[in-house]
Amino acid sequence: MNDVILVTGGAGFIGSCFIRHILKTEEVSIVNLDALTYAGNPENLKSIEKNPKYTFVHGSIQDAKLVKSICEKYNVNSIINFAAESHVDRSIMNAHPFIETNALGTLVLLETVNELKLKLMLHVSTDEVYGTLGKSGKFTEITPIAPNSPYSASKASSDLLVNAFVNTFGTPALITRCSNNYGPYQFPEKLIPLMILNALEDKPLPVYGDGLNVRDWIHVQDHCEAIWTVYKNGEQGQVYNIGGNCELTNVDVVKTILDHLNKPDSLINFIKDRPGHDRRYAMDIEKISYELDWEPRYNFELGIEETIKWYIDNPNWCNNVRTGAYRDYYKKQYGEI
Ligand code: NAD
Ligand code: TYD
Repeated sequence: MNDVILVTGGAGFIGSCFIRHILKTEEVSIVNLDALTYAGNPENLKSIEKNPKYTFVHGSIQDAKLVKSICEKYNVNSIINFAAESHVDRSIMNAHPFIETNALGTLVLLETVNELKLKLMLHVSTDEVYGTLGKSGKFTEITPIAPNSPYSASKASSDLLVNAFVNTFGTPALITRCSNNYGPYQFPEKLIPLMILNALEDKPLPVYGDGLNVRDWIHVQDHCEAIWTVYKNGEQGQVYNIGGNCELTNVDVVKTILDHLNKPDSLINFIKDRPGHDRRYAMDIEKISYELDWEPRYNFELGIEETIKWYIDNPNWCNNVRTGAYRDYYKKQYGEI
């Protein structure tokens, strides 16, 4: 029998990429449970919404009754948990929704896996749980968890719950931790889409601090393929790091975008640093490469060129997500429109 997977948070950036990709390539059915917060966008799934192997349910992973009834109704046998509040800057403004969804929501999913004896839960997490690196070294799966932002603390909480359920109840679960994603359909509050859209409109590009913080960039398609690899072949109870082998400073990322758009570096506007801003992230991906034979395929130059083209070619998507609520957030964060 083919798997019926409950994908949570599938209307967001990464979850929607995963659903579009998996429905094209695999014989599985997907039920997507998404609360449609400001970051969840049904337009991301337009291309597959009529696929008979796809069902959408509007609701929260914190709603235990709903999660259980969906699993029973659709004969779900596994869960892939993308649902989250995902933006560090918003977690600095208000941490509550982060703990509610990321920690308590994950707890609901784990309890459902136990109660219904589901086959597997893959929990999608982040490199940010490891904290920050100095100039050298990389995060491995045994690097101690040391989160610095309310966002990463909430993700670390969820990872610790997964680990506790594996050890206490034998819950069949595993964790992936990935570095910074980029690609089409990313909500323009994150670095890359924000900078592309501002540059297209000749607006200042707000870079925090000295702009020398380093992130390890991975194309969202590579991340989704890695998740599928871990879902199929990963060992229960394990953690798998996923990364792009692509460390860049923020200023280099922004300059690359400006170069592609033929815009001047003078658009860069260095602003007050983010509080608790992690200096450097870098993932050691030897475990997933060696044990599961996965490597990222995208090269950043090509990936960023395609991504910029996608934002240029999809002005309606961009305009629709930049609603009044987005403009309010932008004003609060950057003090201007
Ligand atoms: P996103 O913010 O674009 O999407 C999150 C989705 O979750 C949205 O569709 C939202 O409506 C939904 N959601 C929020 N609260 C919910 C709730 N209570 N119940 C059901 N749905 C809810 O985030 P993303 O960038 O697609 O990230 C997906 C996952 O990947 C997150 O768990 C995030 O921590 C993790 N991750 C993201 C990155 C990155 O660079 N974006 C890197 C590593 C890991
Ligand atoms: P972001 O996309 O928010 O991801 P994360 O904080 O999860 O790594 O930010 C990526 C990097 O870009 C991070 O070092 C913060 C920086 N940044 C800016 O300099 N300016 C901005 O306006 C944003 C949103 C991020």
